[in-house]
Order: sequence, then structure tokens, then C-alpha cells
Amino acid sequence: MNYLENLDKSKLPKHIAIIMDGNGRWAKQKGKNRLYGHKNGTKSVRQVIEGSIEAGIKYLTLYAFSKENWKRPSKEVEGLMNLLISSIESELEELHSNGVKLNIIGDMCRLSDKVQNKVKIAIEKTKNNKTLNLNIALSYSGRWEIVEAVKKIANDTKNGTLSIDKINEELFSDYLETAGMPDPELLIRTSGEQRISNYLLYQLAYAEFYFTPLLWPDFSKEDLYEAIFIYQNRERRFGKISEQIKN
Ligand code: IPE
Ligand code: IPE
Ligand code: MG
Repeated sequence: MNYLENLDKSKLPKHIAIIMDGNGRWAKQKGKNRLYGHKNGTKSVRQVIEGSIEAGIKYLTLYAFSKENWKRPSKEVEGLMNLLISSIESELEELHSNGVKLNIIGDMCRLSDKVQNKVKIAIEKTKNNKTLNLNIALSYSGRWEIVEAVKKIANDTKNGTLSIDKINEELFSDYLETAGMPDPELLIRTSGEQRISNYLLYQLAYAEFYFTPLLWPDFSKEDLYEAIFIYQNRERRFGKISEQIKN
């Protein structure tokens, strides 16, 4: 089935979030080291960026490195950071010419100066692009993000720029890393794991979850279209009953 042709363009998710998982297992199956899996995972990153543009998705958020991932063997962490730098170097021109606006969500302070600089250049270069908002979650965790928002809100109330009765769900969203963006309607996780691993805890409140056994380096744009197709055929009730949704 050609999923792209069968998508309902009027019911596209505005925002898709992906947990790109299974690079290590993919490499192990091939008798290679974990970094080989991560390198091949970058091809799938290209695929989902291209696929999002072709399908007309406006926001794509990719989980590239969690705060918990800092606990991995230092060689793997180093390899991932180098891969990030080389990917920005090799892909930036094409991302830019395709209208991709890059944004990082996460605790940038923990990244090396080299990574921070590369990222800043890419963000600056692409800041006026409009086709696709691409968020890379880097040194990110949902609880960290929520606690940071609470600290900023507390500070603003303390210094008098925010009154407590103005605090509501919308305002809280604006203190998160994803301020100004719609919440993801669809979360995709590859590799068969069925957990959210501290990802977008506030924003995923009503997202549809899609789990696939495919390992990340095997995930293609066709698989993205299939996930969107399945999302479009679910009934999102938001607490109501089916009859209310149909009428
Ligand atoms: C996802 O693949 C990439 C990152 C978390 C950086 P993994 O590295 O988690 O691969 P598995 O889960 O061990 O197979
Ligand atoms: C989640 O994958 C983080 C990323 C994909 C970057 P992990 O492989 O780190 O998640 P857990 O540890 O299995 O939950
Ligand atoms: Mg994993």
C-alpha cells in the first residue's frame, strides 16, 4: 500500500515526536560495534526529515541523546558527540536549502564547547526557515525540563513579573523547551520497547503512541507514512464518548 498517497492531508499531525531506539541491537545483529549502529541511524534521521517534509508535517522532534545517556560508556558518548558534529557539518547546507529550522531542546550546558558552537551556528543559519521545525532533543529529559520550568516560574513570581493567578496549563507550556509549539499528536518509538524514557512528559499528555519492532537504522520514510496512516485511523476522544466525536 502506498501510505503517502492514502494520507488524509486535512488530518495530518502537526507535530510528531520520535524515540529513535535500537541502534545498538542493530549493530550487534551484524556483529559490529554500537557506533556502527549509530552511524547507520543517521540515514533514518535523513529519511524521517525528508518524509516529514514530503508529507507536510510542520514539527518533528527527535530524541537523539537523553540525560540518562550520559551514563553510557564514555567511548560511546564521545562517539555520539562526534557523530553529531560531523552530521551537522555534512547535512547543514541541505537542511537549510530544504527549509528546515533547527532547534535544540535539552540541557545545552552539559555539552562540550565544540558541540555547543556547532549547534549555535546551525540554529542561527536556519532561524528564518519555515518548511519544517526540527527539534533535536539533546541531553534532554522530561523531568529536568519540568523542574527548570518550575524554577523559572518561581523566579518570575518572586521578582514580580508574573502573578500566581496567571499560572495555568498554557502558561506552563510556554516555560518549557517547546514554548510556542503545538504538542506532539503522535509519538513513535522503534525497537519494540514500550516506554517513554523521560521524553516530553508534559507535552505527550494526549499523544497517540505508535510502537514498532523495527530497529532505528531500518526505519524509513515509508514506515513514517505508515505510522501517520495508523494515527489517522484512530479515534481520539479526549475524554468524550465516541458518539460525541462523530457528531
Ligand atoms: C538509540 O539506540 C540511540 C541512542 C539512545 C543514542 P540505542 O543506542 O539505545 O540502541 P539499543 O537500544 O541499545 O539497541
Ligand atoms: C531513549 O533510548 C533515548 C534516546 C533514544 C535518545 P534509550 O535506549 O536510552 O532508553 P532506555 O534506557 O532503553 O529506556
Ligand atoms: Mg536503546
